[in-house]
Amino acid sequence: MKIAHLSDLHVPAWQGVTLERCLNKRLTGLANLRLRRGHEHEGYALSAVARAVRERADIDHVVVTGDLTNLALEEEFEAARRFLAEELALDPSRVTVIPGNHDAYTRGAYESRRFERYLSSYATNDLPGASAMHEERAFPFVRIRGPVAIVGLSTAVPRPPLVASGEVGALQRAALHAVLAHSEVSSRFPVILIHHPWHRPPSLKKAMLDALDDRDELKEVLDVLPRGLLLHGHLHRRMRRTLGTARGKLDVLGATSASLVCDDPDRRAGFNVYEVDERGLVGVESFRLDAQGARFEPAAIVAT
Ligand SMILES: [Fe+2]
Ligand SMILES: [Fe+2]
Repeated sequence: MKIAHLSDLHVPAWQGVTLERCLNKRLTGLANLRLRRGHEHEGYALSAVARAVRERADIDHVVVTGDLTNLALEEEFEAARRFLAEELALDPSRVTVIPGNHDAYTRGAYESRRFERYLSSYATNDLPGASAMHEERAFPFVRIRGPVAIVGLSTAVPRPPLVASGEVGALQRAALHAVLAHSEVSSRFPVILIHHPWHRPPSLKKAMLDALDDRDELKEVLDVLPRGLLLHGHLHRRMRRTLGTARGKLDVLGATSASLVCDDPDRRAGFNVYEVDERGLVGVESFRLDAQGARFEPAAIVAT
C-alpha cells in the first residue's frame, strides 16, 4: 500500500479579505501573507502537487497533515474543499485530512467547528465507539485501510497572536489510548497524523511557534506501540527522525508545504510517499517541484 503525504496546503484564497474582517488576530496573519516576499504559497505549486499525486496510479491513499487555510475564513475552507474535490479529485474515502493551527486561527473558527463543517467527509470515523470518550470533537478518528489503521488527531487550538504551538489535550489522549487498544487498530500498522512536529524547540521563541505542548504526555500513550508511522507538517520542511517507545519505535516523518515557493530546495513544494505492508514501513520517497515549477524531482529528507 502506498500513502502520499501532503501538508500545509495554505490555499491561496485571501485576495478578497478586507481589513475590516481582520480586526483581530487575523491582522497579524494578513500582514504576514501580504508582506512576505520570496517565500510564498502559490496556487500553481499546489495544483502541480495535486496533478502529480493524481497521475500516480500506485497511490492508494493521501493524507494531509493540516494548515489547509491561512486565516480559517469560510472562503478559505471553501477553497480547500474545492481543491480536494476538483484538483486532487480522489474519492473522500481515499483522502484523510486533519487540521493545523491555521485552521483554528480564531476562537470563532474553532468553536464553530469550521474545519469539521467543511471537511468532515475527509475525516470520517470507522470506529466511532472507540472515540466515545471525546464526543464533543471529531478527534481522534480512525480509518481502516487494508494493512493500515490511520488515526487522525488534532493539535490545532486557538492561541493568542504570535503563538502557534499546539496540543492534543487530555480528552483526546484518553480517547487515543482506547483507540490504540482496539483490535481493529492493534492488529494493523498504525499511521498517526498530527500537525505539530515531534521535536523539542531549541528556544522559548521557537517553542511559542512550533511546540507540541503536551508532547511528553502524548508519548506515554504512544508507548504501547511497537511500530508505526507518526506524520506531521507545520515546519514546512522535509524531515525524518525516530521516536523510541517502551515497546519499539515509530518512524516520524514531516512533509513540507505543498504550496511553498522559495529558493531553499529543502523546503520547496512537494510531497512524500510511503510504502507500507504487513511488515511495516518498507519504503520512503520524497519529491519536490523543480526551480522552474515545471516538474517533480526526487528530494532528500533531512534526518534530524
Ligand atoms: Fe503551515
Ligand atoms: Fe502550522
